[in-house]
Amino acid sequence: MTDILSEIKNFSLRFNQKLEKLFEMPKGNEKRTVEAMKYAVLNGGKRIRPFLVAKCAELFNVSEDKAFMAGASLEMLHTYSLIHDDLPAMDNDDLRRGKPTCHKAFDEATAILAGDGLLTFAFELLADSDYENEKKIKLIKLLSNGAGAFEGMVAGQTLDLYAESVKDCKEPLKLIENIEKMKTGCLLKYACEAGAVIGSANDKELEALRVFARKIGQTFQISDDILDAVGDEKKVGKTLKKDNSQNKLTFVSVLGLDQARRIEEKLTADAKEALSIFGGKAQTLQNLADFIIKRDF
Ligand code: IPE
Ligand code: IPE
Ligand code: MG
Ligand code: MG
Ligand code: MG
Repeated sequence: MTDILSEIKNFSLRFNQKLEKLFEMPKGNEKRTVEAMKYAVLNGGKRIRPFLVAKCAELFNVSEDKAFMAGASLEMLHTYSLIHDDLPAMDNDDLRRGKPTCHKAFDEATAILAGDGLLTFAFELLADSDYENEKKIKLIKLLSNGAGAFEGMVAGQTLDLYAESVKDCKEPLKLIENIEKMKTGCLLKYACEAGAVIGSANDKELEALRVFARKIGQTFQISDDILDAVGDEKKVGKTLKKDNSQNKLTFVSVLGLDQARRIEEKLTADAKEALSIFGGKAQTLQNLADFIIKRDF
């Protein structure tokens, strides 16, 4: 656990140094939005998604440098989703990554624009990257699909906003699984797919990574919901116990803490098993699966 934690932290240090260089500040007043984008992106964050991209790509002997652009563009897009998720019209949160949320540090209109800017920037980075054209198009297609309103993150956020509370919901487990699959699972799936695309994985390898991604997507949201219920606010860096106060449909509200934890264990074992075709090369990804359910932030 400490090994994987330090591996993630060291990766983040290298990743953040390169990420910062991607921002060129405009000279005019339009720089306010870019400042807000930069504030939100460089404001901490575990960098689990780019770490996943890099480690999936590494299965195919792709270097961390080569995987950087795919990871960076995903982190831009993920951060946009967090900025908008925190807005008063959505979860109305004041704290993100241990600092004031983007709309608190700037203002609501700027936060909306910063989200728009990051979403667009993600695709610009991919278009400008030096992956072969065929891979680039695949990445752009997969990312837009995973992030979008038809079956991606935006679709999941839509269901999340309008989901009934547990007591009013007919099939709460089915609904929460569907919400999670889209709002959280899709971008984690993309992270694994991106590593596979960059690494020219074959169909069997891609499928194994997709199964792994599906399992850890679910454990990632279950542990996010558990941390909201019983985590330490200083470590998590978000205002906690909000899901309950906002009557959110979550894995904890549907299953209770004990059952949620049992399901996480089973999913983690399945996730690790899915990678068996890669042998010892998949050890770090398997450790990451364990980290996701044991994390305290
Ligand atoms: C939080 O994601 C939002 C969810 C999808 C549950 P992370 O827990 O990865 O947030 P950061 O990037 O580390 O801040
Ligand atoms: C949001 O889920 C997932 C996103 C797509 C941003 P949550 O609303 O539970 O995420 P946190 O807890 O605010 O990070
Ligand atoms: Mg939310
Ligand atoms: Mg939220
Ligand atoms: Mg949450």
